[in-house]
Amino acid sequence: MTHPEIEKRKTFAIISHPDAGKTTLTEKFLLFGGAINTAGTIKRNKASQSNTSDFMEIEKQRGISVATSVMGFEYSDKRINILDTPGHKDFAEDTYRTLSAVDSVILVVDSVKGVEEQTEKLMGVCRMRNTPVIIFVNKMDREGKETFDLLDELEDKLKISICPLSWPIGQGHTFKGVYSIFNKQLNLFRPDKSKVTEPVIKVNDLDDEELTKHLNDRELSKLKDELELVEGIYGSVDKEMYLEGLSAPVFFGSAINNFGIRELLDTFINIAPSPHSREAIERDVLATEKGFSGFVFKIHANLDPNHRDRIAFLRICSGKFERNKFYYHTRLGKKLKFSNPMDFMANEKSLVEEAWPGDVVGLYDSGNFKIGDTLTEGEQLQFKGIPSFSPEIFKEVENRDPLKSKQLEKGLEQLTQEGVAQLFIQQPGNRKIVGTVGELQYEVIAFRLQHEYGAKCAFRHLNYKRSSWLTSKDKRNLNDIIQKRYHHIASDKDGNPVFLAENDWMLNLAKKDFPEVEFHTTSEFKS
Ligand code: G4P
Repeated sequence: MTHPEIEKRKTFAIISHPDAGKTTLTEKFLLFGGAINTAGTIKRNKASQSNTSDFMEIEKQRGISVATSVMGFEYSDKRINILDTPGHKDFAEDTYRTLSAVDSVILVVDSVKGVEEQTEKLMGVCRMRNTPVIIFVNKMDREGKETFDLLDELEDKLKISICPLSWPIGQGHTFKGVYSIFNKQLNLFRPDKSKVTEPVIKVNDLDDEELTKHLNDRELSKLKDELELVEGIYGSVDKEMYLEGLSAPVFFGSAINNFGIRELLDTFINIAPSPHSREAIERDVLATEKGFSGFVFKIHANLDPNHRDRIAFLRICSGKFERNKFYYHTRLGKKLKFSNPMDFMANEKSLVEEAWPGDVVGLYDSGNFKIGDTLTEGEQLQFKGIPSFSPEIFKEVENRDPLKSKQLEKGLEQLTQEGVAQLFIQQPGNRKIVGTVGELQYEVIAFRLQHEYGAKCAFRHLNYKRSSWLTSKDKRNLNDIIQKRYHHIASDKDGNPVFLAENDWMLNLAKKDFPEVEFHTTSEFKS
């Protein structure tokens, strides 16, 4: 059974290593969708990537990212929801969580730099959830890697089989355009940063006379040879494989020059999945179910320290969300009603009366929500797929103002609820350890603790590099490791035991010494 409101929704994220072109591509999509009129509108969203101590930059980013958290627009009878992810790698954890709320992703790769560190990590998160991925190779106007080498690198490093749907003709100064394998047409490249159209030449096949008017003999014979190889190596696109997250279609283009964008967008709305089902601990929830359900994947604090209210971003999974209706908060076991839910259509906030699966609504929150919370019409459900990942940096919190220890405690609790960082408690002495994926986070936390909570703290670097969540079928084994390795044990926000290790060697040693204990790299595990 399908539903037109669900069918028309495409909720996705554009992800990339910083500087590959995510912001530029997002902006071009919005231009195509008529959601913005001029280029440069969302450019401001980018925080400075080199400067790690610019608080104002951080605050500015925080303010802007509320507005761009979700960018909804209509295109070709579809409702497109682009969920924004922070560009800075120190905010990667925020990106991982946002990926739990999308139905597919577009991964942007720089043709010159190829697959970079952050690209690999993000792809790892997509693989965990079998999220369908389309790859856009950007910056074809620059002298990049040889195309077949680049494709090998994509398969190798991203650990996914790929299938080119377009093929570049030259690159850099010899870049002529792409041949669309999918649509059998030649898209000619005319560098232009303002226009949103590109010359398209429809052909019947590669022997079509029309091609010889635009490509010289060398180019044409190279194209034929390469396409033959492509067909032999990669075969044709298999939509099912794509939808299962096993194969990624690849497109080539140049975002800054508006080249290859329409083809990407048109194919995307054609093949990308609409909301389908979501896994909850209790059961799978279908988007087409009548009863409403959704989960919070992101929380934004108010920028004004005098107002503690926050915005919780709720992804709708099933049924219809309605303003002023009571919904059941399954963790707290209480009913809540929202009189001012926000919609993010056309990059502007507005009051929303109703919303459908795939949509994201912003809910004003006075402290009821934690990331991962589920709302339903009464059923006890808890959606899965929003785990905490192992931080890479760990620091102990030192209180610098003993009179403000309550404020420090509250501030740390709320900031970690927002997902700014992870808090671990270590005994003896109730030591507070903050774990993050980037140094910048500590500056954000110290700054916000002082400005929003009046608490002063410093951070003492710890030598840990990994955290593993521990479980065991027999509780005695768990107690055994907790007792024998107590200086490596902490508990997470929910009181679960976590093993902190200095390096992989220490971690492997512990695994060997305690074979009955299971070590998990994310907080979401089947116990
Ligand atoms: P990000 O969000 O992934 O971090 O990347 P962003 O879109 O900001 O792009 C990073 C840089 O790459 C920008 O240059 C942008 O103009 C450029 N860029 C994007 N697409 C293309 C393309 O197709 N070809 C070429 N040659 N460059 C491209 P910048 O100098 O950092 O910023 P700006 O001064 O252009 O704003």
